[in-house]
Amino acid sequence: MGIGIKEQIKELETKALKDLDEAKDAAALERFRITYLGKKGLVTGLMRTLGKLPAAERPEAGKQANELKKRLAERFEQRKKEIEGDGAKVFRGIDVTLPGRKPELGHLHPITQTIQDICDIFQRMGFRIVKGPNVELDYYNFEALNIPKDHPARDMQDTFYISDKILLRTHTSPIQIRVMEAQKPPVSIIAPGKVYRRDSDVSHTPMFHQIEGLLVDRGVSFADLKGTLVSFVHQMFGKRTEVRFRPSFFPFTEPSAEVDIQCVLCSGSGCRTCGHTGWLEILGSGMVDPAVYGFVDYDPEVYTGFAFGMGVERIAMLRYGIDDIQMFFKNEMRFLRQF
Ligand code: DAH
Repeated sequence: MGIGIKEQIKELETKALKDLDEAKDAAALERFRITYLGKKGLVTGLMRTLGKLPAAERPEAGKQANELKKRLAERFEQRKKEIEGDGAKVFRGIDVTLPGRKPELGHLHPITQTIQDICDIFQRMGFRIVKGPNVELDYYNFEALNIPKDHPARDMQDTFYISDKILLRTHTSPIQIRVMEAQKPPVSIIAPGKVYRRDSDVSHTPMFHQIEGLLVDRGVSFADLKGTLVSFVHQMFGKRTEVRFRPSFFPFTEPSAEVDIQCVLCSGSGCRTCGHTGWLEILGSGMVDPAVYGFVDYDPEVYTGFAFGMGVERIAMLRYGIDDIQMFFKNEMRFLRQF
C-alpha cells in the first residue's frame, strides 16, 4: 500500500502537469483548478485517502501529498500568468507589450553641420566644392601664397613640419593655388577642410576646420567680394545682422579686409564675448594679390579675383553660444546630443 500511494502521487502529478500545459485559455485553466485543486478535486481526494494508511506510513505520505499540492499550485499560478494574468501579453515570462528598446539614431557632429550649412550657401551662389591634401608642400602652404621663407607672416602660424618641405597645412589657402594651377578662369570654388597649428587653449585646438573661398574672372571687384560676403552673413546669421569690413593684411591679398559681424550675443551693445566692442571677427578676405597670379600663370592685367577664409569652429561657437572650443572634440554625448 505504501508503494501504492507514492505511485499514485507521481501518476497524479504527471497527468496534472500534462493537463496544465495543454490548458490554452482561462476556461481550460479553471477546469484544471476544479479537477485537481478544488475542494472536490483529485488532490483533495488523495489527501483524504491518507487517513486509511498504516500510521507508520502516514507522515511520509502526507508530506509528499502536501508537496505535490504546493508544486501544482505554483505551476498553476505560473500558467495562469502566462495565459490570463496580463492578458495575452506574457509569453514564457516575457511581457511582449513592454516598449522595446529603440535603436538610437545618430546625427552629424555640430562642426560637420556647420560646414555643410556654409557650403550650401556658397553652392547656391555657384561656388564648386573642392578638397586639398592635409599633408601639404611648403610651396603651396606658404611660398606660392606670397609668404617667402624669411617672411614674418610665417611666425603668425605655428606649423607642424614633417620635413623641410612637407608640413601639415596651417590653413586651407593652399587649395587656392592647386585650383588655379589646374584650371584657367573663371574660377569659383569653396574648399572646406582640416588645418593644423601648434596651439591649444579655450579658443584653439591643434586641429580645426577652415573654409576657403576663391573667385577669379575678368572684372571682379571689391564690390563683388563685399556683396558675396554680406549675402553669406545674412543667410548664415540672419538678414538683420550688421556687417563691417575692417582693413587688414594678408600676404596673398591686396587690399585685405577682415569681416566682423554685429555680436550675436549682445546685438552690438557690448559684452564679454565681443570684448565690449559690439563686433565679432568671422573671416579674413581680400583681392587676390597679383604676386600670387605669378605663381599660377594667370595674367594679372586680365584677371582679378577675391578670396576669403573662415574658421568653422569659431562660427559654430558663435552660432550655438559655446565658449570652449575643446567641447567639440571631447566626444561627450551629453554635449553632442543637443545639436
Ligand atoms: N588663410 C588665412 C588664415 O589662415 C585666412 C584667409 C585670409 C584666407 C584672407 C583668405 C584670405 O583666402 O583672402 O588665417
